[in-house]
Amino acid sequence: MKRALVTGITGQDGSYLTELLLAKGYEVHGLIRRSSSLNTGRIDHMYQDPHEAGARLFLHYGDLTDGSRLVTLLDSIQPDEVYNLGAQSHVRVSFDEPEYTGDTTGMGTVRLLEAIRAIGLDTRFYQASSSEMFGASAPPQNEETPFYPRSPYGAAKVYSYWITRNYREAYGLFASNGILFNHESPRRGDTFVTRKITRAVARIAAGQQNELYLGNLDAVRDWGYAPEYVDAMWRMLQADEPDDFVVATNTAHTVRDFLEHAFGCVDLDWQQYVRFDERYLRPTEVDALIGDYSKAQDKLGWTPSVLTPRLAAIMVDADMKSLEVAGTRYVDAVVTE
Ligand code: NAP
Ligand code: GDD
Repeated sequence: MKRALVTGITGQDGSYLTELLLAKGYEVHGLIRRSSSLNTGRIDHMYQDPHEAGARLFLHYGDLTDGSRLVTLLDSIQPDEVYNLGAQSHVRVSFDEPEYTGDTTGMGTVRLLEAIRAIGLDTRFYQASSSEMFGASAPPQNEETPFYPRSPYGAAKVYSYWITRNYREAYGLFASNGILFNHESPRRGDTFVTRKITRAVARIAAGQQNELYLGNLDAVRDWGYAPEYVDAMWRMLQADEPDDFVVATNTAHTVRDFLEHAFGCVDLDWQQYVRFDERYLRPTEVDALIGDYSKAQDKLGWTPSVLTPRLAAIMVDADMKSLEVAGTRYVDAVVTE
């Protein structure tokens, strides 16, 4: 039985990846941070599963800022595959917390790689690299496009990308970068723009909210569906050789387009509800990300099937259902980013 360690297991991608790995028969170990309130909402359904799959999921306290803990943990687990998904992943927040973002999103990666090297583990390593690394480089972006990060988050991811390549070249580690473009789902964090919009659509349709405050509506993004993107991660670690791959849909939509699609699901005109708030602007913006995923298609046999209009419908539908189930759950929620 293969054994995997997933950092960031409590996040959007960590939860879908864990479902995928358990379904493939893996034993899955997840790194979780201790917090005063529960942060395992996205994985509880697996952890509490009394059947075989739940019995193959193990959670361990730890943190990417704590190198000695990573050594102890890796040594005790001896994983065949390590997926490094843990990060301070919010671009806007990275301008408020640049040092912490560098520590977690950048240095966290070298702590993990160095732990693998020091123990002498024969493991395959996946690094969650990001299209944010391309930043100001014009689209379409592929594996050859120069990096030009526009945020502390993007800069930290560039460091992680290069240190992953360096450990591959210097020590022969099977280490691959997945350069993933934006991917979303009903499990997307509440303060990323797609989920902020689809939650608001559900609440507005239910008469619980009248306005939605947003920043730059002109930004172009290439939005895909998270469950399909975690499959690409897994494929990268099953390849014959380690390499770096863009994962995207090669389609372009503005935030305004996403509003059209999401509000269109409930037959509402978004212009009646959306207001501008400069707090949601960034000191430097990434204007356009559109990914050319031909290499992943050719070498991994990976293609996306859910594109932005369907993605918006999936997310609105899930948020409408969640509101029905939860009753007044979202009434007092405050979205601050
Ligand atoms: P997410 O939902 O924000 O999840 C981030 C995860 O990292 C959470 O489990 C979080 O734990 C954990 N984490 C944060 N700080 C940590 C620390 N110091 N030590 C250990 N764990 C820590 O992000 P996601 O959307 O699933 O993305 C997964 C990864 O892919 C991230 O590295 C992200 O930067 C990258 N990425 C995402 C996208 C995208 O569009 N989603 C695109 C490209 C790359 P808590 O639950 O305790 O906060
Ligand atoms: N979050 C947010 N909130 N974004 C807004 C808002 C708002 O109220 N209004 C407009 N936007 C714009 C942002 O300025 C940005 O141009 C776009 O919507 C998308 O923002 P996010 O959803 O926060 O995602 P991101 O593109 O900055 O970063 C995500 O994708 C990266 C991959 O390209 C994150 O998941 C990163 O972790 C990931 O690496």
